Amino acid sequence: MQLPKLITITILLISLSNPINSFKLPFQVNDVLPVLPRQISWPVINTFGRAVDLLPSFVGTISPTNGSVVWNGACFGGNEARMEFTEGDDRGLGGGVIYLKTGEAHSWTCMDLYVFATPYRITWDYYFTAREHTLAFESWEEPAELEYVKQHGVSVFLMPSGMLGTLLSLVDVLPLFSNTKYGQNANLAFLKDHMGATFETRSQPWTATIDPNDVHSGDFLAVSKIRGRWGGFETLEKWVTGAFAGHTAVCMKDDQGNLWVGESGHENEKGEEIIVVIPWDEWWELALRDDSNPQIALLPLHPEIRAKWNNTAAWEYALSMSGKPYGYHNMIFSWIDTIGENYPPPIDAHLVISVMSMWARMQPAYAANMWNEALNMRLGTEGLDLYGILDETEKRGISFDELLTIPENDDWVYSDGKSTTCVAFILQIYKAAGVFGHIADSIQVTEFTIRDAYMLKIFENNQTRLPKWCNNGDAKLPFCQILGKYRMELPQYNTLEPYSNMNEYCPSLPPTYERPTHC
Ligand SMILES: *[C@@H]1O[C@H](CO)[C@@H](O)[C@H](O)[C@H]1NC(C)=O
Ligand SMILES: *[C@@H]1O[C@H](CO)[C@@H](O)[C@H](O)[C@H]1NC(C)=O
Ligand SMILES: *[C@@H]1O[C@H](CO)[C@@H](O)[C@H](O)[C@H]1NC(C)=O
Repeated sequence: MQLPKLITITILLISLSNPINSFKLPFQVNDVLPVLPRQISWPVINTFGRAVDLLPSFVGTISPTNGSVVWNGACFGGNEARMEFTEGDDRGLGGGVIYLKTGEAHSWTCMDLYVFATPYRITWDYYFTAREHTLAFESWEEPAELEYVKQHGVSVFLMPSGMLGTLLSLVDVLPLFSNTKYGQNANLAFLKDHMGATFETRSQPWTATIDPNDVHSGDFLAVSKIRGRWGGFETLEKWVTGAFAGHTAVCMKDDQGNLWVGESGHENEKGEEIIVVIPWDEWWELALRDDSNPQIALLPLHPEIRAKWNNTAAWEYALSMSGKPYGYHNMIFSWIDTIGENYPPPIDAHLVISVMSMWARMQPAYAANMWNEALNMRLGTEGLDLYGILDETEKRGISFDELLTIPENDDWVYSDGKSTTCVAFILQIYKAAGVFGHIADSIQVTEFTIRDAYMLKIFENNQTRLPKWCNNGDAKLPFCQILGKYRMELPQYNTLEPYSNMNEYCPSLPPTYERPTHC
């Protein structure tokens, strides 16, 4: 550790152990928090502040058409920022530059940390000295981002002290979202490093010629996207949950023998994620054109399970959900089961709360959708926003961490209907069709991650019974890969007998994601 830091920490600890300071420090405690390691800064903040103080504060939006924004930071007064569009990049969209002038700092140790965000990217910078700083966006991700910035600008947040350590450790996460070869390589490298994935190249052809006659109702489709926004999102989800697939869908046969696909999280023309049941050909066509470069495997049900399958009940349930929105509400809660054990570092409840509050500012409608309602459900309240929720949590003497870990209940009905993520939708169909037999009632499907689903011992276990067109002659896989350059891996596939109340209290921590039996 460098000497100045050590001195700072020592002074800080002395000042903390003497609540009534007999000597006056040349700076305020909060000033130095950003330069301290997170393990020290968070407890300090937690001792001093209330949960609400940990929220990033919204400074304003900066856009090329709106002149400049003026505000006071925690350290620097009289800050001013403006933005200009720039031209000339390979994508033809141009980029932008933010010019930010900081005024005089009130002490020499002080530092302001800012986050700059659009729904397509998030970046940050911190300032120690008073002068003009620039922040360049080389190129907009896609035309929609350029359009967004023209209309809404870039949102700027002043972060609470102490966030720096967290943000710095997220550095290797950002390139994941880039829709380029470089972005894809970032995803592969991340999954190799953090989860031990291998990504071996398969022999050609990378696309199977599927005979729908060999596919049956209930066969599970495991999808792994590795590029662009969805690729980056899935990579993080995989890392957090330990699943080697990031999306799922299910095959459905109708009485005439036509093949369909049921999917929660299908993007409609309006760009909304909804639940659909669509013809196989249409689904497959979209998968082949998908620029997130999906790798897809078909996991056929075991013949004994298929013999129990009630197709009428499966279709009834699927059609009753068709057109409803994707389950944002319970998406994040399925992996936050036990306090402390479910956030891979550097994610922690503070970061979760910061992201929630920034999101709430940029996409208020989505935010209400994504978590406010779910948090209200957990408190038994209605219509509180994030600040209200934090207030209420504090009044009841529980921590935000504890609030997050209250399990989801399959029976909760949200304002836009019952909430079902991609995998919960499929497991509900399985429940209806009789896959879980007499324990169906004691299975809360919203507690399942994608990994929990493919671990279930309900799939074909005899390789010779897989359809001939599977795996292009690659005999290594116990399931049937139908698309993708890289051989898919699903560790512990088809190994876990279903049992009552399964997965309600399972920790999931990288890199091994060890799972206690019967959690
Ligand atoms: C520009 O400023 C006006 C008035 O302050 C505000 O209503 C509008 O939202 C701003 N637009 C952008 C793109 O920031
Ligand atoms: C299959 O499900 C339907 C609809 O829920 C039900 O009416 C029927 O009795 C079930 N069939 C069997 C064999 O259980
Ligand atoms: C696998 O399936 C084949 C063809 O149905 C059958 O001959 C063989 O006995 C099965 N193997 C096992 C281990 O069940």
